[in-house]
Amino acid sequence: MSATPAKKSSKELRTPKGMHDIIGEDFYAYQGLFEKIQEVAVYYGFSPIQTPILEDEDVFARGVGEHTDIVEKEMYGLRTKGGDKLVMRPEGTAAVMRAYMEHGMQSLPQPVMLYNYGEFFRHENPQKGRLREFRQFNFEILGSEKSIADAIVIRTVVDALEEVGFADLCVEINSIGDIDSRVAYTRALVNYYKKHTDSLCPHCKERLKTNPLRLLDCKDARCQEFKEEAPESLNHLSAPAKKHFKEVLEYLDSSGITYRIDNTLVRGLDYYSHTVFEIKALCPAEGSEEATSLTIAGGGRYDGLGKLLGSKKPIPAVGAAIGIDRLITTEGVKIPSPRILKKPKVYFIQLGFEARLKSLSVIEMLRKAHVPIAQSLSKDGLGAQLGTAEKMGIPYAIIFGQQEAMDGTVIVRNMESRSQDTVKLAELPSYLKGIK
Ligand code: HAM
Repeated sequence: MSATPAKKSSKELRTPKGMHDIIGEDFYAYQGLFEKIQEVAVYYGFSPIQTPILEDEDVFARGVGEHTDIVEKEMYGLRTKGGDKLVMRPEGTAAVMRAYMEHGMQSLPQPVMLYNYGEFFRHENPQKGRLREFRQFNFEILGSEKSIADAIVIRTVVDALEEVGFADLCVEINSIGDIDSRVAYTRALVNYYKKHTDSLCPHCKERLKTNPLRLLDCKDARCQEFKEEAPESLNHLSAPAKKHFKEVLEYLDSSGITYRIDNTLVRGLDYYSHTVFEIKALCPAEGSEEATSLTIAGGGRYDGLGKLLGSKKPIPAVGAAIGIDRLITTEGVKIPSPRILKKPKVYFIQLGFEARLKSLSVIEMLRKAHVPIAQSLSKDGLGAQLGTAEKMGIPYAIIFGQQEAMDGTVIVRNMESRSQDTVKLAELPSYLKGIK
């Protein structure tokens, strides 16, 4: 039987919706931010971890929660030939907890401080700051219930964001308490909202049954007046939860981090408990309903996640993620140059076959001497190539023509003064080191 021929289509091929190619300067911008944030993470004592892009669906279904938007609507899934259900990771925390348990990191000195960077996937409606493939830098501290761990995560994220240009960050924080507090609070919330069921948006009617904390995330105009009057989680904290939150705030005070307590901040993922926080570049003006900027980073404590993923013992943990795509487009960001990026010092011009034959060894000699170059491999004449070097603002050109190839020399041209020297190939590295 012959195989069905592939369907021919004249459709223009493009990146999938909400996903982008990252090219040239943009690539370096991501890399520069990654390097700077990684440097902050390493100074704070975080170590790297990289988990797979694909995970068992259960990692997120159990960890993030069946009734969250992420799990209900946003995961890209696939079934392997062997029948396993895998998903492209929509977030990093549940995967890091899975790795911590799988590799027995409980037996290491606690806490274990990990960072990771990479792509995440959520099938959301693409809009400003919301992509289907996006990048996060994650910080996780696993194995400590201490309030100072919460403060260190917040301090690290604030430091990283300050390093890339933000001086007036808006840290919004809340506590949803421990499991007991959360149960009491959810009950109070349900009792309150039940009285208004008929007036709620359809989404909130559903949330009331499946994930009541998410009622506070609703942006629908119909639900705003109910949100304002809703019970506050801070009034339902158990004594230990109250103490924990008070200590976190004291650490932030003593570390000079200004923050706002936001009673409606719950961050809807099932794994959160105690401290939850979000960070924006700027706070909205007092009394203004308008958010000044998108949330760049978010996180919180997730003491319950280990158990959700099957650990017998509780694994107290806290972490945060910076959304790098949002960071890159936030007004005021100062993008650091990545270390790898070297401004070309020399524009290499080869003319004629003899020169082209030998040019690879000259370029290799320059690389070994750490002289970054730009070059044209096209057939353009000398004038056009010098014009390109000038346009690119490269200070020197090396001209390697037929005659030079035979003599074992090159011409080094100062692009500004237009003066030229003939230099022996063997002396080229030291000659270039001697010029600025
Ligand atoms: P999250 O709030 O879902 O938290 O995401 C963290 C950050 O990732 C957001 O503040 C935002 O900057 C960025 N982000 C999220 N979704 C998108 C998207 N569709 N497009 C572009 N950027 C996006 C988490 O993912 C938690 N795992 C954070 C965490 C770490 N909690 C504890 N440890």
